[in-house]
Amino acid sequence: MSRLSASPFVTSILAGRVALVTGGGSGIGFEVARQLGLHGAKIIIMGRRKSFLEKAVGLLAQEAVQATWVQGDVRQSEDADKAVEKAVHDFGSLSILVNAAAGNFLVAGEDLSTKGFRTVMEIDTVGSFNMSRAAFKALKVAAEGGLIINISATLHYGATWYQTHASAAKAAVDSLTRSLGLEWGSFGIRVVGIAPGPIADTPGMAKLAPADDSSAVDELVAEMIPLGRMGTKTDIALAAVFLCSSAGGFITGETLVVDGGHWLFKPQMLPRELVSDMSRRVESKSRAMTPSNGLSANAETISRPSSRL
Ligand code: HXC
Repeated sequence: MSRLSASPFVTSILAGRVALVTGGGSGIGFEVARQLGLHGAKIIIMGRRKSFLEKAVGLLAQEAVQATWVQGDVRQSEDADKAVEKAVHDFGSLSILVNAAAGNFLVAGEDLSTKGFRTVMEIDTVGSFNMSRAAFKALKVAAEGGLIINISATLHYGATWYQTHASAAKAAVDSLTRSLGLEWGSFGIRVVGIAPGPIADTPGMAKLAPADDSSAVDELVAEMIPLGRMGTKTDIALAAVFLCSSAGGFITGETLVVDGGHWLFKPQMLPRELVSDMSRRVESKSRAMTPSNGLSANAETISRPSSRL
């Protein structure tokens, strides 16, 4: 199987672009870095753990992706500046920033310490802001325009159990996407988001649905996804390639949900084969109603003009 067999895009679509991917040492961040690289971009990945970064760059090199790494913590603005400087120094420019670094753990709200809440807010939200601000000057002179992709989530569409911190952080990330999309469009910088649903084989899933048998978890989760399967890291990474390409060139301030319809999920109230029959029976009953047999006392009260008026 070709390394790009899953991609509908030509391999040179991102040639000449330079992408800095935070959290690029593992999980979704790595796969986004990989796919951008396989489509021609030069890659710099940033993360806290040197061993992960070295291994990731080694894997990218095996696929002929030109890549380097920088160790740093997105919570520290000086680390953000250093990463952008390295990208420009090593590759001559920076055109794409992917904010994929994130933190999360399951915890009931009443057990979440202030430090735990703050830590996730700082990695996800402050980190995305630090990186975006640090990249601004380089992105605004990028030849094909600058782009920021914030990896978000759907946790805060409605609400999600035991992730108060991550839900608040990702809601704020979506707000950053819109605000910076508004403010930086005139500088030729697009700011977009991708909100993944449950993605198989990621550190995030391992933390949120811990189990000895991950395929059993995948099956269970897939039942809550209208498209009937867990997402893959490639689903997310190819969405990123699309947003980086000229096909996404008029999109800014928007977060693309890539979740197979997961956040829309509601339990099926009635088996599909019973809907039509039941609905018609109810309908004919309702049409057979007369004021004497169909209107409730309450309805009559409401429809009767008030004597006090
Ligand atoms: C309760 C916890 C906890 C847990 C940490 N804390 N884990 N509280 N339950 N399981 C608390 C600590 O007790 C501490 O508060 C505070 O959080 C900070 O913890 P530290 O270990 O000091 O922080 P740090 O070393 O910076 O680690 C940050 C981290 C860690 C978020 C806790 O897990 C991390 O670095 N994660 C990065 C990788 C990751 O999580 N990837 C998955 C992302 S998935 P106190 O008060 O006790 O000192 C993702 C997807 C979202 O984002 C959407 C999914 C659909």
